[in-house]
Amino acid sequence: MDITFDFTGRTVVVFGGTSGINYGIAEAFGRCGARVAIASRRPANVDAALERLRGQGVTALGRAADVRDSAAVDAVFDEVDAQWGAIDVLVSGAAGNFLVEGHRLSSNGFKTVVDIDLFGTFHVLQQGFAHLAPGASVINISAPQAYVPMRYQVHVGAAKAGVDQLTRVLALEWAAYGFRVNAISPGPIEDTDGLVRLSPDGDPGGSTALKHAPLGRLGTRHDVAQLALFLASSGASYISGAVIPCDGGGAIDSVKPAIEEAGRAMDGQPAR
Ligand code: COA
Ligand code: NAP
Repeated sequence: MDITFDFTGRTVVVFGGTSGINYGIAEAFGRCGARVAIASRRPANVDAALERLRGQGVTALGRAADVRDSAAVDAVFDEVDAQWGAIDVLVSGAAGNFLVEGHRLSSNGFKTVVDIDLFGTFHVLQQGFAHLAPGASVINISAPQAYVPMRYQVHVGAAKAGVDQLTRVLALEWAAYGFRVNAISPGPIEDTDGLVRLSPDGDPGGSTALKHAPLGRLGTRHDVAQLALFLASSGASYISGAVIPCDGGGAIDSVKPAIEEAGRAMDGQPAR
């Protein structure tokens, strides 16, 4: 039995919403009647995503913005505000990832991922606060690396752990304003760049991850989008400060061996 959601007349903004999991979330809200704004770095990605959304009849706007640039993030909010007013659902999902052993990672490589994932989320929430509508729902996209230590993921682990704690702290602070702040922690999601980046070369379909999946399948963008819709709905009106896995149980069992196997398959890495 499916749950149906109705976000008619609501305004949703998705940072990093031009591809993969975040695009899936943007599209799901659009299909449920919301106006959807998307933003990411590359104008071509923004244009392509807008075309897809509008092709489905979704009222959509988009703007190129790098979440590392606080002023660029603010400009997205100003545009949304000017066109549609206050925001009902704010999703922060821009991220960067690659496999690398910690001692081989440059300072700038570490900083780049922390800048995108953690500072980027901070910018989105910090700048977004003033634009939130009464009862708004904020959803950050985290990852199991935040709480499961994984080789080759020192940068992402540090960044996403920060995202999780930022989620909890702002949930406390913003409860006084009537805003809820939660995070989704997806497992390996099929047909995404994230899965390709964490799979061995020559395994873009994620069969390594599938081998370790407790439910015997990879996650889908639909799985994650359904959770986002629920978190933004009145059904979740007493849920705040939660980091909710959408991973088929992988984080408590097997996401780690899949990613570590992919890392060991990289050229020049020591076998363990
Ligand atoms: N291994 C080790 N270091 C790497 C690396 C890799 N595979 N890829 C990038 N780096 C390092 C670079 O060498 C550079 O450090 P340096 O200046 O000391 O040489 C630093 O990271 C920044 O690289 P750059 O390519 O300039 O960053 P960018 O801002 O253009 O791109 C990335 C950011 C690297 C995260 C890029 O992978 C990206 O754009 N990712 C977005 C999509 C994505 O990751 N999706 C999955 C989400 S889970
Ligand atoms: P993706 O398709 O690469 O999505 C990342 C999005 O962020 C893209 O739209 C990208 O567009 C944008 N982006 C990247 N850097 C940015 C920046 N500096 N500023 C603004 N936008 C930026 O990857 P995905 O796999 O779907 O991942 C989406 C989210 O899910 C991420 O937060 C990731 O950590 C999380 N996650 C994914 C998986 C998985 O299995 N895929 C598992 C756990 C968690 P541009 O290139 O145009 O900027």
